[in-house]
Amino acid sequence: HRHLLGIEGLRRPDIENLLDFAEQAVEVSRQVEKKKSILRGRTQINLFYEPSTRTQASFEIAGKRLGADVMNMSVARSSESKGETLLDTAMTLNAMRPDIIVVRHAQAGAAHLLARKVDCSVVNAGDGAHEHPTQALLDALTIRRNKGRIEGLTVAICGDILHSRVARSNMILLSALGARLRVVGPSTLAPDSLSRLGLEVHHDMRRGLDGADIVMMLRLQRERMSGALAPSAREYFHFFGLDEEKLALAAPDALVMHPGPMNRGVEIDSAVADSPRSLIREQVEMGVAVRMAVLEALAQHLPNV
Ligand code: CP
Repeated sequence: HRHLLGIEGLRRPDIENLLDFAEQAVEVSRQVEKKKSILRGRTQINLFYEPSTRTQASFEIAGKRLGADVMNMSVARSSESKGETLLDTAMTLNAMRPDIIVVRHAQAGAAHLLARKVDCSVVNAGDGAHEHPTQALLDALTIRRNKGRIEGLTVAICGDILHSRVARSNMILLSALGARLRVVGPSTLAPDSLSRLGLEVHHDMRRGLDGADIVMMLRLQRERMSGALAPSAREYFHFFGLDEEKLALAAPDALVMHPGPMNRGVEIDSAVADSPRSLIREQVEMGVAVRMAVLEALAQHLPNV
């Protein structure tokens, strides 16, 4: 593959190879001398039209650990504010001959559009409510390292499923690797129609968490909701916020995940987020490893000129 635009379209062996590759990157990242040279002389542009802490920082660190020259485009200070379109910006950057563009954009399909127009590899770092493939890969790596497997695990993805590219990419990836998937949330955010995808849909945390091995919490994506849809934080936490009482309904060795950024006291209680059962910090570490693995895999398809 020349691009990574989504989990959709990847085969199970592709996913498993990337996870194995990422395991090696974890080892590299834990050494004192972390630098490899596979991307030496290559240029990577991080083009982020939406805010990011984890994804942008980890793509930058991953590229630098592989020896690339990494440039972070600050879109707020770019010519987008003067009315330039995504495609015109992309073609401008393309003329500077980058090797890889990592793009985050509010529009679903933005990464696909870019990939059709530019000469270099494109990595989707999140496009609207569509996909966030490296997040799903890092989540899978985190689960596999802690549970030893993904096949047969019951994973409950909880909260704002409707607006979540993290949920979508995870549903595709975890299904492909044989997990049993449940989605849990209010019917406005976890619609019953999702059962058509072969998922269990629950609107009650008590039933949705019952016996789950992994509890994956999601942020309320208020920026993608019209005002009337957005529940109050207090009411939402009461019914759908993960606290110790609700977590007690999951399997005794259940582990808790959250892609971040998290809203403490809205979808997750601090006592759970900071507990030994939380994998949230490990997810961040795996984020660098997975992005190194993806960049390294793409490097094999870059022209040798
Ligand atoms: N999980 C995630 O994508 O976080 P950022 O928005 O901080 O990159």
